[in-house]
Amino acid sequence: MQIGPIALENRLFVAPMAGVTDRPFRMLCRSLGAGYAVSEMVTSRKELWNTLKTSRRADHAGEPGPIAVQIAGTDAAMMAEAAQYNIDRGAQIIDINMGCPAKKVCNKWAGSALMRDEPLALEIARAVVDAAAPHGVPVTLKMRTGWSADHRNAVKLARDFESAGVQMLTVHGRTREQGYKGSAEYDTIAAVKAAVRVPVVANGDVTSPEKAREVLAATGADAVMIGRAAQGRPWIFREIAHFLATGTHLAPPLVAEVRRLLLDHLQEHYGLYGEYSGVRTARKHIGWYVRALPGGEAFRGRMNGIEDCAQQLRAVSDYFEQLAQGMERIPVHRDAVEAEDEEGAQDEGAATAAH
Ligand SMILES: Cc1cc2nc3c(=O)[nH]c(=O)nc-3n(C[C@H](O)[C@H](O)[C@H](O)COP(=O)(O)O)c2cc1C
Repeated sequence: MQIGPIALENRLFVAPMAGVTDRPFRMLCRSLGAGYAVSEMVTSRKELWNTLKTSRRADHAGEPGPIAVQIAGTDAAMMAEAAQYNIDRGAQIIDINMGCPAKKVCNKWAGSALMRDEPLALEIARAVVDAAAPHGVPVTLKMRTGWSADHRNAVKLARDFESAGVQMLTVHGRTREQGYKGSAEYDTIAAVKAAVRVPVVANGDVTSPEKAREVLAATGADAVMIGRAAQGRPWIFREIAHFLATGTHLAPPLVAEVRRLLLDHLQEHYGLYGEYSGVRTARKHIGWYVRALPGGEAFRGRMNGIEDCAQQLRAVSDYFEQLAQGMERIPVHRDAVEAEDEEGAQDEGAATAAH
């Protein structure tokens, strides 16, 4: 699997998720079998590039390549400048966000809303490709199947983006209007794949090894991208890789391994965010790890009362040590990913709005 000149390790990708796929989480997923991880979106608004939020998002220290930075915005010239800025800071691939069901930003529609304005969407793609091409940096783009059920224009746009020089397309099998409701559909992704020569990545509702195999087969896509199912379950990538290679299931991880992974994840997380924000933003990750485990819900509640790193680490360590006394491995995952709730959708909107 290649993105332009860049070879990837496999065809299992972590989806960009604002507020989730920061450097520690991306590196964790990479170490557990994901071949590629795109950063959370970075705004094209220059006045925000020096904010703490954007500089944390632009932190790639120690990350295995390729470094892929997603940019979001509604103005072609600003997007070109954002591409240039991120390339100067080490981006090896630039991804354009036309996938978020974001709210209005500065009276303009960003993310997947751009799919409604085809000339602007294309102008942005061309401008970003023009900015990146002299550096040999490939440009990729993530979109949905269309604006609404009556306006499913992913195939037309995919052809236009390919002609503009975009070198990989990711399609989330929902329209912008759907937000995260309903189920992803894969026919449109298959149609996009059939319409272009550049690699196509299928995304939406892949929650298990079987589903990954099914979606790859149904779409003919070159890769699958996994978002919510990796939250609190970063080992899903090695589970899928094993299943695709052998047709058999890998045993769930040992409780002791999950304890170690989470404690290491937390240390990296605090390193990026510092104590105050680190403890607070770590709570959602901890909640995702434990949500399906015995006593997980109660433990998740108790986390809200803890305000320093040492105590949070201790509590997590104790919880898993106690769990390990009753079971060697975590229970087999039931194939049920929560439909994206308001909280997650708002996270994403807020992340964009904050930009
Ligand atoms: C909390 C959250 C934040 C997200 N942030 C982004 C983002 O920054 N850029 C983007 O292109 N998509 C973003 N998405 C969409 C995901 O990349 C993905 O397309 C979507 O979750 C569907 O895949 P899944 O069913 O595997 O989760 C976000 C999704 C969630 C749940």
